[in-house]
Amino acid sequence: MTVENRLIDRHGRRHSYLRLSITDRCNLRCTYCMPPQGIDWTPRTEILTADEIVRLGSIFVGMGITKIRLTGGEPLSRRDIGQIAERLGALPGLKTLAMTTNGISLAKRAGTLRAMGLNGLTISLDTLRRERFIEIAKRDQFNAVMDGIEASLAAGFAPLKINVVVMRGVNDDEILDFVSWAKNRPINVRFIEYMPFPDNKWSTGGLMPYAEIRALIERHYEMIPLMGDATAVGKDFRLAGYAGSVSFVTSMTESFCGACNRLRVTADGNIKSCLFHPAEQSLRDCMRSGGSDTDVEKLILGAVDAKQAAHPPMEELLTMKNRTMIEIGG
Ligand code: GTP
Ligand code: 5AD
Ligand code: SF4
Repeated sequence: MTVENRLIDRHGRRHSYLRLSITDRCNLRCTYCMPPQGIDWTPRTEILTADEIVRLGSIFVGMGITKIRLTGGEPLSRRDIGQIAERLGALPGLKTLAMTTNGISLAKRAGTLRAMGLNGLTISLDTLRRERFIEIAKRDQFNAVMDGIEASLAAGFAPLKINVVVMRGVNDDEILDFVSWAKNRPINVRFIEYMPFPDNKWSTGGLMPYAEIRALIERHYEMIPLMGDATAVGKDFRLAGYAGSVSFVTSMTESFCGACNRLRVTADGNIKSCLFHPAEQSLRDCMRSGGSDTDVEKLILGAVDAKQAAHPPMEELLTMKNRTMIEIGG
């Protein structure tokens, strides 16, 4: 089934990818994602219900979305994640249903999620050392995540994407360890530039630019560029003789806004057309006050129409009002 895409903005960008946050709760406390004092969890009544999530999913797919990524917080912390995945996965016209998770509870659930229609999986892991994991994530869950990774590979998620936020002085000494970890596994290691959000300890010194990470790897390996999808946030490379691959997400030093195809919905039901723009409209309130699908569509089209051409430069992001990363959903 082909749907005419109605999600085209003033800059000619066609939106086909929805990042849908289904909770702001998380069982880790990663310093780059969450302020040290924590956040006030949104009351459950304000979070979208499974029915509302599926209704929104269906409306977005009817407007041209072909890929939905479930994010959080930690999406697997929702008890009804099974039915959400199954119902979204069954939407005619949706080609990809993916999830970004911290991996803690995947050891038991990877197989079921795959059977329910999830066909893309990304796990966040910033270190291969247990002690360091505790420092970054403030919880002793390294072994659970590693078990989750093995279970996901066994369930057939390939390539399995692993997100590594590179922070100078924190985990930059593990870049080569991560690369060699991909030698015998079908994993895609994604080195992500550290981005500033309110209270997340970001500093220009902590950011390790893509060019530097790449140069470090190229001192040891020959990287062969892969021609990816023009709208992907990652620059992808393979390495001779390796089962896995390496990518770079260069949001800070080489932003990819010109090819952006993403929209976001927060766990409390606000559409956010850009990660780095505070403008939001409540789709939840529209639905809860009896709005029709056409009313919801109007709000979505308004948000797309108002989308900015690109995010402001790094220095401006630092002082800009925005939600924290955990409240946006990545
Ligand atoms: P794919 O679906 O494979 O393209 O994965 P993804 O990169 O969309 O998702 P993932 O959740 O793995 O995010 C990887 C990194 O890219 C995270 O740090 C995200 O915050 C960042 N990211 C995702 N979407 C955007 C975006 O639209 N703009 C910017 N600047 N960064 C983004
Ligand atoms: N900078 C870069 N990436 C981040 N993520 C969370 N916070 C940041 C940040 N400050 C990443 C996580 C997760 C993805 C959704 O976003 O690693 O995998
Ligand atoms: Fe798209 Fe905004 Fe991300 Fe740029 S910063 S790629 S416009 S979401």
